[in-house]
Amino acid sequence: MANVRAAITGINVFTPDYVLTNKELEKMVDTSDEWIMTRTGIRERRILKGEGLGTSDMGAEAVKGLLKKTNTSPDEIDLLICATATPDMKFPATANIISDKAGIKNAYSFDIMAACSGFLYSFDTASKLIESGRYKKVIVVGADKMSSIVDYTDRTTCVLFGDAAGAILLEPTTENIGYQDSILQSDGSGAQFLHLKAGGSVKPASHETVDAKEHFIYQEGQAVFKFAVTKMADVSVAIMEKNGLTADDVAWLVPHQANLRIIDATARRMGLSKDKVMINIEKYGNTTNATIPLCLAEWENQLHKGDNIIMAAFGGGFTWGAIYFKWAYDSK
Ligand code: UT7
Repeated sequence: MANVRAAITGINVFTPDYVLTNKELEKMVDTSDEWIMTRTGIRERRILKGEGLGTSDMGAEAVKGLLKKTNTSPDEIDLLICATATPDMKFPATANIISDKAGIKNAYSFDIMAACSGFLYSFDTASKLIESGRYKKVIVVGADKMSSIVDYTDRTTCVLFGDAAGAILLEPTTENIGYQDSILQSDGSGAQFLHLKAGGSVKPASHETVDAKEHFIYQEGQAVFKFAVTKMADVSVAIMEKNGLTADDVAWLVPHQANLRIIDATARRMGLSKDKVMINIEKYGNTTNATIPLCLAEWENQLHKGDNIIMAAFGGGFTWGAIYFKWAYDSK
């Protein structure tokens, strides 16, 4: 029997309308467009405005568009996985809420929390479930409303993040396309450098935790940068070596968009020229679980069936990894 692989058969994204520019941030904190551009490569990011709107609203919009674009009925979906670090609530899973909002009734759904590597972890999990032969149509959503955990008086973090969602449809194929291989890793000793101090079981929310701003992202930027720049490049080179790929074989690198300097270092180590690297950090900043689908969607029309693509990410936890897959269709 031929090997069953999971192929991406459609992609769709949702980005909020509100554009928060570096110029606007200059009026909010002691920063400058020049500092943000040279240190991060970010010029603007999208923010979800509106009372009562959360991660699931963006995720559901991405999913509804995906179903329409791929001519898929919500009833056909077997499973929906949502990668998010900013769930609507601590429970139930945001994936459940997205499924409900998108009219998906015959599926089970759950969240995966691996910070900025969540989309890769979820893609890997979904692909393995498809390879099992049991599931035929699986949606993976990467969605984050980072503005809900960003302190807009802290210049060291508020310039970095944005809100967005992206969704992919995965289906089985017996052709040699789709998911090929992955290397995923984590190291919990890195938690100290990037986390949310309160609101969990160790330190439940209280007046004190709110006053101390402990429900906002805490990041030791330099420490995270050092790990990220090494680990993301190492794992990207490792997946190439493991699969006997040279730089010429790789059509595209789809890197998590946290910092342009990390992306450039990864591409350099892989020996890839810049024209093979998907970069849109300038427009969206770090949207955590949405960065990779945002890139894939933007470049969709330039992708060809059989293109070798490597996705790589690094995030809080620490978590990191790379996935090698072959694009499954010609978009044009
Ligand atoms: O996606 C999840 C994983 N996260 C990451 O991968 C993020 C990794 N880290 C980074 O990308 C970078 O460390 C940052 C972009 C967060 C910071 O860049 P950096 O080059 O590491 O700057 P730094 O933290 O070393 O700060 C340098 C200076 C400091 O001032 P002093 O102490 O030298 O006077 C900061 O206070 O820049 C200052 N600074 C700022 N200045 C203007 C920090 N943030 C800002 C700002 N505007 N927004």
